[in-house]
Amino acid sequence: MSNRITVSNQKGGVGKTTISLHLAVALAKKDKDVLVVDLDPSAYLSAHLGLDDYYYDENKNSLAYNLVEGPQENLEDIVLQTDEGVDVVPSNYDMRGVEDRLNAERNREMRLRMILDRIDGDYDYTMVDSPPSVGVLYDNAILACERVIIPIKDEDMSIVSIHRALDEIDEIEKAFGTNIEILAIIPNLVRPDGVATDTLERLRSTDGLKEYLTEFEIRQRVAIRRAMKNRTTLYKHKPNSDQVKNFMKLADLVVSKCEGENDEEEKEE
Ligand SMILES: Nc1ncnc2c1ncn2[C@@H]1O[C@H](COP(=O)(O)OP(=O)(O)OP(=O)(O)O)[C@@H](O)[C@H]1O
Ligand SMILES: [Mg+2]
Repeated sequence: MSNRITVSNQKGGVGKTTISLHLAVALAKKDKDVLVVDLDPSAYLSAHLGLDDYYYDENKNSLAYNLVEGPQENLEDIVLQTDEGVDVVPSNYDMRGVEDRLNAERNREMRLRMILDRIDGDYDYTMVDSPPSVGVLYDNAILACERVIIPIKDEDMSIVSIHRALDEIDEIEKAFGTNIEILAIIPNLVRPDGVATDTLERLRSTDGLKEYLTEFEIRQRVAIRRAMKNRTTLYKHKPNSDQVKNFMKLADLVVSKCEGENDEEEKEE
C-alpha cells in the first residue's frame, strides 16, 4: 500500500497546500512515485498544478462524484499526470456540495479511503491536501491516511493553537477507534525575527510537542509566494532558494519515518 499522508490543520492559510505540493514534488525528486489528492473544494492545489480548466469541466467522473456515489468502475480516470513529476486527483467545482451530500450517506467518513484503496496501490506516497475546516472531508483525509503533517504559522505558533489541532485528531481517534500518527508539526511562514526564534525554542522543549516539532522550519519567502502565484513550485521558480533544502529535509524525514517503519516491520516478520 502507498504511504498516505495528509497535511492538515483546521486553521486557514497556514501553508497546507504549499507544503503538500512541495513535499510531493520533493518526494518525486527522490525517485518516489507520488500521487497528490486535492480534497479542498477551493481547488487551490489543482490550480497550482495548472488545472484551472478542469475546475469547470463537466467531468462526471470527478473525485466529488466518486466520493458521493462511491467508487465507480472508471475511477482510474480521475488521476491526471502533471509536468511536476507527480500525478494528481484534482478537485473541481462539484466538490463544493460534497460535504452536504455526504452527510446523508452511510460510511461517509471512509469514502476517500475506499477510493484510494483502488487507485494508489502503485504509488510510493499519496499526499492529501485537506480543507481548512473541520468536517466530513477533513475526517476523510485523516482516516484515509492515518498519518498527518501539521503546518503551523509563525503568527499563531502557540501551545494553545497546536493543542487545538492535536485535539481534533484525538477526537477522530476516539470516535473511530483508530491510531493516527503525527509525522511532524512543521513551522511555516517563519519570519527572521527573534520573536519566532524564541517561541520555537520554547515549543521545541515542551513535553508533548517536542517529539513532533521539526528541527527545521520553512521561512517566509517571497519566492515561495511568487512560485505558487505563478502556478509552479520553488524548485522551478528559484531552485537556489535557501528553502529548497528545508522542503528536501521534510521529504527525508517523511521517508525515514514511513520507510524506516516498514523496514522494522519486515525485520519482525
Ligand atoms: N513559506 C512561505 N513563504 C511565503 N509565502 C507562503 C509560504 N507558505 C505559504 N505561503 C503563502 O501563504 C498563502 C497561504 O498558503 P497556503 O494556501 O499553502 O495555505 P493553506 O493552509 O493551504 O490555506 P487554506 O487554509 O486556505 O487552504 C499562499 O498565498 C501561499 O503562497
Ligand atoms: Mg489550502
